Amino acid sequence: MSEHPFARSSTRVLAVASGKGGVGKSSITANLAVALARRGRRVGALDADVWGFSLRRMLGATEPPTVTAEDRIVPPEVHGVRLISMGFFAPEDQAVIWRGPMLHKALEQFLTQVDWGELDWLVVDMPPGTGDVSLSMSQFLPRAEVLVVTTPQPAAQSVAQRAAAMAAKVELDVVGVVENMSFFRGDDGTVYELFGHGGGRELAERLGVPLLGRVPLVPALREGADVGVPIVVSDPEGEAAQAFAVIARRLDAEIAPRRIYKPELRIT
Ligand SMILES: Nc1ncnc2c1ncn2[C@@H]1O[C@H](COP(=O)(O)OP(=O)(O)OP(=O)(O)O)[C@@H](O)[C@H]1O
Ligand SMILES: [Mg+2]
Repeated sequence: MSEHPFARSSTRVLAVASGKGGVGKSSITANLAVALARRGRRVGALDADVWGFSLRRMLGATEPPTVTAEDRIVPPEVHGVRLISMGFFAPEDQAVIWRGPMLHKALEQFLTQVDWGELDWLVVDMPPGTGDVSLSMSQFLPRAEVLVVTTPQPAAQSVAQRAAAMAAKVELDVVGVVENMSFFRGDDGTVYELFGHGGGRELAERLGVPLLGRVPLVPALREGADVGVPIVVSDPEGEAAQAFAVIARRLDAEIAPRRIYKPELRIT
């Protein structure tokens, strides 16, 4: 019987999830991880999207992990964040086609064979949907807090709610909601709500958790993701980076972890 990783440590595990693809989970994970590191925290980022991994590219991690004599994997550090992603182990153009048990094994290795060192935060980029990976993660990381990402339109909200329902089923706590692509601000300051309004707030209210932030639609955010320089690094004073700084501060300094360590929760 082996104890699940981070069981005893004070590491807070944050699973960034949504019921739907393309809402910005990976972008939020990358920028939030760096924003937490910029607060002086020791931060790891785990790309649990083993099929559609994107964190390596988004964070611009050129160096792969190293392996110690004891066969421990040492994650490279990029923008102050220790990163593990399937992107280090599989070529980007090659789809990883795995079944549940193999997935489970890969995630287990990422958590148990990786020398994360002492971490204050482990931010986990979840794949879209509510399938095998979520189940595996909840088994490995029963203390994880779930951050639900949504976009402002009602349709996205209902799928995001599925992620919350999933979290409840596996007994993880939802810590808050982040609304992404909330608005676009033109050069003259005019705000355009391209994807509607209020979805994040409504979802947060329905889940009884805080709306931690609204991240604007910023072309530079996507460009930064494509070249591996997150917007919190390239434009720290900009509106998007400021939104991430606020979300990081609220998580880190204002919201106490809801769940306390439970010694009876172990993986076998
Ligand atoms: N606030 C934003 N402003 C501009 N572009 C954004 C923003 N958020 C995300 N994007 C872009 O939208 C696309 C989808 O974002 P991302 O990959 O982070 O979503 P995801 O939820 O992780 O997707 P998947 O479900 O495929 O894993 C990316 O090209 C990303 O750069
Ligand atoms: Mg993603």
